[in-house]
Amino acid sequence: MTSIITSQPAGAGAAGPADAAALPQAPETPFDPAVLAQLATAFFRALPGEAAAPAGLQSASGGASATPLSAPASATTASHALPFGQQPQTQLAPAGSPLASPAGTSPNLPGTPIPQGQIPGGNFTPTSHAQVLSLGNRAGVAVPHAQAGNGVPDKAFSTLPAYEPRLAGLTDGVPQAHAATAAAGAQHPAAGASPFYFGGDQHGNPSPGGAATDAHAADASGLDALSRQAIAALAGGQPVPTVAPNLPGSAATAHAPAAVATPQYYFVDSVTLPSGYVTPAKPHPHGTHAVPQADRGRHPAFDVNAVRRDFPILQERVNGKPLIWLDNAATTHKPRQVIERISYFYEHENSNIHRAAHELAARATDAYEHAREVVRRFINAPDVSEVIFLRGTTEAINLIAKAWGGQHVGEGDEIIVSHLEHHANIVPWQQLAQAKGAKLRVIPVDDQGQVRLDEYRKLINDRTKIVSVAHVSNVLGTVVPVKEIVEIAKRHGITTVVDGAQSIAHTPVDVQELGADFFVFSGHKIFGPTGIGVLWGKRAVLEDTPPWQGGGNMIADVTFEKTVFQPLPNTFEAGTGNIADAVGLGAALEYVERLGIENISRYEHALVDYGMEQLGAIPGLRLIGTVPGKASVLSFTLAGYSTDEVGKALNAEGIAVRTGHHCAQPILRRFGVETAVRPSLAFYNTFDEIDSLTTVVRRLAGQRRAG
Ligand code: ALA
Repeated sequence: MTSIITSQPAGAGAAGPADAAALPQAPETPFDPAVLAQLATAFFRALPGEAAAPAGLQSASGGASATPLSAPASATTASHALPFGQQPQTQLAPAGSPLASPAGTSPNLPGTPIPQGQIPGGNFTPTSHAQVLSLGNRAGVAVPHAQAGNGVPDKAFSTLPAYEPRLAGLTDGVPQAHAATAAAGAQHPAAGASPFYFGGDQHGNPSPGGAATDAHAADASGLDALSRQAIAALAGGQPVPTVAPNLPGSAATAHAPAAVATPQYYFVDSVTLPSGYVTPAKPHPHGTHAVPQADRGRHPAFDVNAVRRDFPILQERVNGKPLIWLDNAATTHKPRQVIERISYFYEHENSNIHRAAHELAARATDAYEHAREVVRRFINAPDVSEVIFLRGTTEAINLIAKAWGGQHVGEGDEIIVSHLEHHANIVPWQQLAQAKGAKLRVIPVDDQGQVRLDEYRKLINDRTKIVSVAHVSNVLGTVVPVKEIVEIAKRHGITTVVDGAQSIAHTPVDVQELGADFFVFSGHKIFGPTGIGVLWGKRAVLEDTPPWQGGGNMIADVTFEKTVFQPLPNTFEAGTGNIADAVGLGAALEYVERLGIENISRYEHALVDYGMEQLGAIPGLRLIGTVPGKASVLSFTLAGYSTDEVGKALNAEGIAVRTGHHCAQPILRRFGVETAVRPSLAFYNTFDEIDSLTTVVRRLAGQRRAG
């Protein structure tokens, strides 16, 4: 006997009469959660092995007694025969049971309408105080996108049925080498004399001793027939359009029927449930507090002095001097709006998300999903469910290499990167190549620091599977012609990745215009918190990528035999993520939106040109990376000085720059050095600060010559 039953036609009951009699009577809809919970408990109560699990899961005692809802062994699902991430459809409950899909399909399909709420957010209402089964993850979908962090309700979502996860991804704001040429130490006469334990790129603390999602059989609206049928039933019989109104015509942009003219919000309004129960109205979910807003209209035009007042840390003094922060390529500072938004989250919204039937879960989910929508807008992604929150660029590239690459790159295949890549865009590909017997090919860079397209074209062949390039070099500041690189790759059917870590804060990004399959960036490079970043990928490519981590939050259904994953974006967000910092990233992007990335870009280019001119005029100073139109970075070496010496002299004047290899050793070696001094700019830097920088460097140059 087995507890796993393959899909059955509607009406084909799986439980025998005696078994059925042992269970409570299935009620008429609307379902009673208590009855459902009882049914679920009865159904799942058998221990693994007792319920005739597959051989590997049999208990030592070999017990395989039938559960009340068990089925013949002949109906066992051969889930092991399916590729990782793809799950068979099974019917876990007998037809007629409230656990069975009213549409006659499987509860194992994400989106099968397992009853959870009768209205958007219904599971948060007093009538459904207890969740049934393990549907916590659907709460995020059930939330009618109550009140976003900016106080603007998401009207579209408020019309959705509470328990249709497939719509989660369909509506706005909803979840769903070179050898070293010289020993580095040889260029660091002062190494070891540093008061900073981490100097010289050491790590650690000072010490005595550093889904595949379940396939959607969706039509152009993104809904399959069963979903439309189920939604139509919920919407009082109104048909669901096959092509969704209002949103761009991609398959992933369907709204539920606009049956509810005036949306009701479970957290504020009194709502009449189908059962007739009227929920009590509640106070505003955010009480009397105002959610801190990045967009306060304080900078109608870009004004660097006004902007600087938003960054408290810029008032710091270092060594008795005003801090001059020129280490923005390493990390950026955070405006008060971001700091306050994160504080607000912890003071008023903190909760895990997509789970639990309580107020703070709703607030936290709203805030998190609002941030996802802000990211979507900021990079002009077509579909919010293509936006995945991760730790940062490094994690995102590792995900692509390990999950996508693990599936699509094989022995003899080739991976292309450029010579100017950060280690984060080299090492994961190297690891993949080693694991698979594939080859890493490198596009050369010219003497100014630009990627050579002519050489790139020559590298492409039938074995090329993926091209992954930086948008902006973190050492040279080169703006790489990624659009051309992507276009060339696309003509050959090659998948493309753009590493936006160093471009996101300096140049407009439109992922649709770039055309790449993946675009990744880190929040902390764009005035957001550390430990949060974004992987954007085209839906089709993401859906052709297996989940790389497994755990909570990305689950539609788990038994000991198999797992069904949530649709995008949850597929790739296993476990409790960095919720507060995602919210902070959203606030940072809103802040940048307010300033205008074009304004920022224009201002910064003027700063970079001025810095290059001033530094370039200093005797003995060698600029590294001289491509016109470069962004943010002003790397150099100074004759007679180690880069650490220059860094320390600048620090003594309160000026912060990065020195070292910048996690990009191959490109420094391309220019014949192991390390460089790297001032890097952001929009809050000024021409005066560049003068301060050049004054110190000029003084150093003069002293060494005099000595
Ligand atoms: N990637 C960062 C840098 O270039 C850390 O400094």
